[in-house]
Amino acid sequence: MDDYKLLITGEIPLTGDTTVSGGKNTAVAVIPAVLLCDEPCVLDNLPDIEDVRVLSDILLSLGATVTFDSVNKRMTIDPRGVTSCTVPYKLTQKMRASYYLLGALLARCGEANVGYPGGCAIGNRPFDQHIKGFQSLGAEVTEGGGMICAKGSLHGSTVFFDRATVGGTINVMLAAAKAKGLTVLCNAAREPHIVDLANFLNSMGGSVKGAGTDTIRIKGMPHLHQSHYAVIPDQIETGTLMIAAAATKGDVTIHGCIPTHMEALTAKLLEMGVSVTDMDDAIRVRPIGPHRAVNIKTQEYPGFPTDLQQPMSALLCKAQGNSMVTETIFESRFKHLNEMLRMGAHVRIAEQTAWIEGVQELHGAPVTVTDLRAGAALVIAGLMAAGTTEIYEPGLIERGYEHIERKLRHLGANIRREPV
Ligand code: EPZ
Repeated sequence: MDDYKLLITGEIPLTGDTTVSGGKNTAVAVIPAVLLCDEPCVLDNLPDIEDVRVLSDILLSLGATVTFDSVNKRMTIDPRGVTSCTVPYKLTQKMRASYYLLGALLARCGEANVGYPGGCAIGNRPFDQHIKGFQSLGAEVTEGGGMICAKGSLHGSTVFFDRATVGGTINVMLAAAKAKGLTVLCNAAREPHIVDLANFLNSMGGSVKGAGTDTIRIKGMPHLHQSHYAVIPDQIETGTLMIAAAATKGDVTIHGCIPTHMEALTAKLLEMGVSVTDMDDAIRVRPIGPHRAVNIKTQEYPGFPTDLQQPMSALLCKAQGNSMVTETIFESRFKHLNEMLRMGAHVRIAEQTAWIEGVQELHGAPVTVTDLRAGAALVIAGLMAAGTTEIYEPGLIERGYEHIERKLRHLGANIRREPV
């Protein structure tokens, strides 16, 4: 239970400039990837968020030397002292991406014993495709006592994923980067953070080709050398800020982002009647007229991202007309809409589809955060609503958004904390 709640007094247009932080889902892949290196590495543009701090603790527990300068967003990791290949459940249950330690430690030590991962409760989240990939590279994988154990001397192989999986693609890329010979990943995920991880591995002397397409070829390298690397900006934070600007009929320019990563969201906002202007590394969002309802179906990249479905469906609660939102990736990603019923939203949910009838006004109410992006969605709901919204359990939002309250306040939002 968090000892504070967020209070948001809504209906204030956000205006001004803001800068996006480094990508959470990239950071959580690139940090474990340093374990593959034989020398120290410096990572820049890391977001100062809970998941990054947890990973830093995990690497420290393994014997690495880690320093994080949260002001300059720089982490220095020296993996040479790593003596352990075991990560206990008490550390892994704090986040989903702790399962990347499996691929990374397997590559480094030929053995990994990692507790089951935690993470957001957004549905059943199997990792059979990760295990299939490790087995295909020659690892023996066993499970028991809350631990997953993978062991073996790895060799290149062809892995055909039954479905595109971000985590599975990243984990098997990590394991394959030092395996003997060529690994080919077929039906691989194409998200920007997969390209970023490939770029990082290549910056250490790795050989990864095809990232960003559905076929990735990895030639294993026995040694990887030091690297100084900056991770890409967070496309989900960028999208959340774009939606927040639209939700308040504000005029906001988001700097430091990559507009081409945002195409699926930009297309939907334009369809709704929001003005979106792309610049080299910035996006400006402005109102043109009333928001029209649109239909959304989540898909793997470059389709509409599931991580933005929650903020986007909050926005649609005040659009003119009826929207249909279909979630195809995770089965429990509509909990924020149930909370928004208390704010006057008109929503009907049946299995993987939410029918949203736009209302003219939402009103503030007490609501509870159930997962990271649900938290972002409820913040957006609060920014749109008349009166004051009380958001309980807001700590989950800090897992993935750096200084979100500070950033929104800077744009004019009335958002504050109060003890509970
Ligand atoms: C990553 O989760 C992200 N997490 C998620 O971000 C994101 O929602 C998701 O990708 C989809 O884009 C990180 O990068 C740390 P998947 P991941 O493997 O890797 C099924 C956020 O809010 N599947 O691409 O767990 C799975 O059930 C989060 O930042 C299998 O069936 O997602 C899902 O339906 C939450 N077997 C689909 O594939 C497997 O072995 C895609 O999952 C693996 C996945």
